[in-house]
This record gives sequence, C-alpha cells and structure tokens, in this order.
Amino acid sequence: MRRKVLAGNWKMYKTRGEAHAFLEAFVPLISPGAENREVILCGPFTCLDVLNAQAGPYAVGAQNVHWADHGAYTGEIAPQMLVELGVRYVIVGHSERREYFNETDSTVNRRLNNAQDHDLLPILCVGETESVRKDGMTEAHIRSQLDRDLELVDLRRLIIAYEPIWAIGTGKTCEANEANRVCAMIRKHVNFEGVPILYGGSVKPENIDELMAQSDIDGVLVGGASLEAKSFARIVNFE
Ligand code: G3P
Repeated sequence: MRRKVLAGNWKMYKTRGEAHAFLEAFVPLISPGAENREVILCGPFTCLDVLNAQAGPYAVGAQNVHWADHGAYTGEIAPQMLVELGVRYVIVGHSERREYFNETDSTVNRRLNNAQDHDLLPILCVGETESVRKDGMTEAHIRSQLDRDLELVDLRRLIIAYEPIWAIGTGKTCEANEANRVCAMIRKHVNFEGVPILYGGSVKPENIDELMAQSDIDGVLVGGASLEAKSFARIVNFE
C-alpha cells in the first residue's frame, strides 16, 4: 500500500505572521484519522522555521534548492541551509520555476541529485502545457522530462507530482480519470511501484475526494487552496 501525501505549495504567499496564524487555525482542524497521511507544508524560505516550530506532526518543505552546496549564486539556497531549519522535503522543477526562472531539465536534475545527497526528499514536478496536450504530445513530453530529470536520482527517496500547466491556478481541473491515467503512465515509465505520485492543478475541497479515490493518484500538491486553513484541512481530511 503506497503512502498518501497531501502537500501544500504556498508559492510566494504568507509572511511569518501569516504562517503562524495559518497553523493556529489548521492544526486543530485535522481529524485524528489523518494521522497516517503525510502532510507537507511548503512555505517561502522566510517561513520555514516558523512552520518547523509549529507544525507538530506535519512536515516542512521548501520550494527550491540549489545544485551546489555553496558559492557565488546570488539569491539561491543550499540544501544544508534548509536541513538546518528542519526542512525534509523540497519541490524541484515546478513549472513556474521552469517558465520564469529558466529552469531546464538539466538544472532540475542537478538540483534533485543535490537534494538527495543531503537527505532532502524531493518532489519533482512534471506536466504539459495546453498546446502540448492539444498536439497529442502529453505522454512524450512527460516521458522526456522524466528521463532527463531523473538521471542518477534514487527513486526510493522521491515523490513525483503530475501538474498539467493548463490546470494550475486556472480553476480548470484535469478530470480525475485523466489525471489518474497520466499518473499511471508515469509510474509505468519510471518502473518503480513504490514512488508516490501526486496530482496538482486546481485541487480544492470540491474535487479532493474524487481525485483521492483514483487507483494511481497517491496524493495532491495544492497551490491556492492550501493557503486557507479550512480548505487545506478539508483536503487533508479527504474521505
Ligand atoms: O504546486 C501546486 C500548483 O502549481 C497548483 O496550484 O493553485 O492550481 O492549486 P493551484
């Protein structure tokens, strides 16, 4: 039985004070039955120590990590700096990083390897644009991302998130059965049954139960709906 993972990606939202207020509201809303679920809060760098101090049984994740351990890399962050703050997970290769910060499969691969070298558990994001989907190239695109991104990466210490770019922040969720089909394709392609595969893209309280009922969706990576304690709690408490 694969583990269930519910991860929130706060992106560039929340000050330290807002993170503190979120946790005060969120933690009491989690039902005891959710204990065996892996809940991860990926906040901005400045909130990570607040999350670590207050999140109790829930894990803390960052949203980026560098491929080097130190050096002249203005604005970047090294893995051991995250580990020192109690961070256990890190999102790598999010489509927003690929689009706005020139992240390539090669830099994603180097970041993944360095994260694992420091015992951080990476959450690799892959997914297609609307035009790639329209051209019928979804599978080929994702397979190519996986092949390049995962070179030398240890699949036993990895989470993969399928995030169709056209569904991110748009309110257009990928149909649950289609998301499931792509997640199954990813599992088959990496050829490792144990890797948790998450779906991300307009996940909300209204669609979480259907998504989590799918055979190959082991969890979700949630943007907008993870910013509000009540809605993220409902997602974590899925039925
Ligand atoms: O990483 C999560 C993500 O990109 C999805 O964002 O706002 O559509 O849930 P959202």
